[in-house]
Amino acid sequence: MTRSHAATLTLATVAALLSPLSALTAAAADRSAPPAAGASRGQPAPAAHADPAAIPAAVPAAIPADNAAAHAAANASPIYGVTLPEGYRQWQLVAPALEGEPLNELRTVVGNPIAIEAYRRGQLPFPDGAVLVKLAWKYTRSADFASALVPAHATTVQVMVKDAKKYAASGGWGYGRFIDGKPADLAQHQTCFACHAARVKDRDYVFTRLAP
Ligand code: HEC
Repeated sequence: MTRSHAATLTLATVAALLSPLSALTAAAADRSAPPAAGASRGQPAPAAHADPAAIPAAVPAAIPADNAAAHAAANASPIYGVTLPEGYRQWQLVAPALEGEPLNELRTVVGNPIAIEAYRRGQLPFPDGAVLVKLAWKYTRSADFASALVPAHATTVQVMVKDAKKYAASGGWGYGRFIDGKPADLAQHQTCFACHAARVKDRDYVFTRLAP
């Protein structure tokens, strides 16, 4: 009984997410050509991708000092030089999201302590040092309960790092999109700021609100 009760809650949650988000996600989806191309490669990720430990840290400690800079550069996003922050899988939840056609993804935005504190206080703009990470997965029907949608393979991990001076040209945020731990190409990074600026400039370029 406990199990089926839990599954029912999952169904209700997904249903509740679907309606209010569909307008926003439909609007975002039609402009998301580069992420769609990267996200819908259609290849199931190797099992290792599901393992948080498999996500490379920005600069693994084992890298000798003289190689560290080159390694960091290779793992940094074009334009912004943003890397995957260490430990983000342990960060606190800002909000989940369900992205409709054509991407069809489950998403979760998490924030580091500086970002979460700013959210709680309603502080805008976000202070320097705030970092937001959006994780995304394709979804599939649960093998255990038909109406539950559960994560399939991971698609992209996206990062926004606040540094008002360093990123003054892009609203104070540096952007990074990572696929299998590697930064996406230059063209994809040319789209980030424009879309965020066009729609949510008044909220310091951040779409996601703290989930109730
Ligand atoms: C076509 C519009 C669009 C483009 C282009 C875009 N984003 Fe976003 N981004 C969104 C929307 C809409 C959300 C919130 C909904 C969601 O969860 O997808 C979002 C959310 C985010 C978030 C979570 C914080 C927030 O603002 O809610 C991060 C981090 C992020 N995007 C990074 C990026 C990066 C990095 C790029 C470029 C590689 C990028 N975005 C390009 C529309 C866009």
